[in-house]
Amino acid sequence: MRTWVVVAPANRAESVRQTLRSLGLLRKELRATRSGGEVAFPVHSAPTPSLEYTRTEEREVPSQTQAPRSYRELLHLPPEQQALLPRAFDVIGDVVLVRLPEELGPSAAEVGAALLAFVPGARRVGWDSGVHGEARLRRLRPLAGTGAWRTLYRENGLEFFVDPEVAYFSPRLAREHARVAAQVVPGETVWDLCCGIGPFALTIARRAAPGRLVAVDSNPAAIALLRENAVRLGVAARIDVRNETLEQFVAAAGSADRVILNLPHEGIKYLPPVGAAVAPGGTVHYYEVTARADHSMRRTTLVKQLGTTAGWQCVEARRVHPYSPQADLMAYALRRR
Ligand SMILES: C[S@@+](CC[C@H](N)C(=O)[O-])C[C@H]1O[C@@H](n2cnc3c(N)ncnc32)[C@H](O)[C@@H]1O
Repeated sequence: MRTWVVVAPANRAESVRQTLRSLGLLRKELRATRSGGEVAFPVHSAPTPSLEYTRTEEREVPSQTQAPRSYRELLHLPPEQQALLPRAFDVIGDVVLVRLPEELGPSAAEVGAALLAFVPGARRVGWDSGVHGEARLRRLRPLAGTGAWRTLYRENGLEFFVDPEVAYFSPRLAREHARVAAQVVPGETVWDLCCGIGPFALTIARRAAPGRLVAVDSNPAAIALLRENAVRLGVAARIDVRNETLEQFVAAAGSADRVILNLPHEGIKYLPPVGAAVAPGGTVHYYEVTARADHSMRRTTLVKQLGTTAGWQCVEARRVHPYSPQADLMAYALRRR
């Protein structure tokens, strides 16, 4: 293909490349070529004024493109905007969700188009401005693509419907769903509290043999998806699905051997009633956003919150993923002696 190239002597190539990059001129999707002691960098337009030691010319370059390693290589925003592009984004089935700083607003549609082109099989891209409200719903703004947010998603060999507009779901917990399911002892009573669309419960129902499995959430849309997915996966008879609040359920539910509680910002207030309902030897898998500054003391705080008389122990504290520059999503396993 025909493009502008900036030609630099090989011994100046790296500094010229960096300058072109900082000016946002480099065509990152095309390869630089070296010949006769010179390097030719494909550019979007000729730099003005021209760079020292270089000349700019139009040239035919091989049309074979290097596969971009990041969607950011498909974007040519002003350098201050390019620097704000997040590295990470979530792929849920054929839907892509990205968290963008508000400053990227003027370029948001371009970012959406780049992600749509970069992620294989992507159908729709949304700007995820964070979760809100009791149902932890994401604020989604359409950026690119078409169709509904509802999508078919696969993890750990299971396929289920997710609709991030009406019910919480995070693909970043896939390993946790499998890890907790692998710990379920045959015959146990397991409660998945604040289950959302039920990825823990569905995985346990398919992979383990609990004696009783109850999944509870206050969001009717999440419960409707869980019921639909349970039927789809052939496990509807193995999950007692409840559309009620954790408080209502725990007050009348008896006791459990294993409880999953994934309500990362508020779950701590439910630890006392949940702890009181756990049988001796039982475990609470508790998920929480913990500030890094609190990591060392958090095990003790959680154990105290569960109540000192029953003899609780924090047997595991693992980082699931970073949540912000100062905090992590943590998975704690709390065991009653
Ligand atoms: C962070 S999401 C976790 C969903 C699910 N456990 C998962 O891992 O995908 C929290 C869920 O808790 C539910 N929720 C919030 N407060 C609740 C309460 N008091 N009782 C029952 N469910 C609640 C919300 O509707 C939401 O689905």
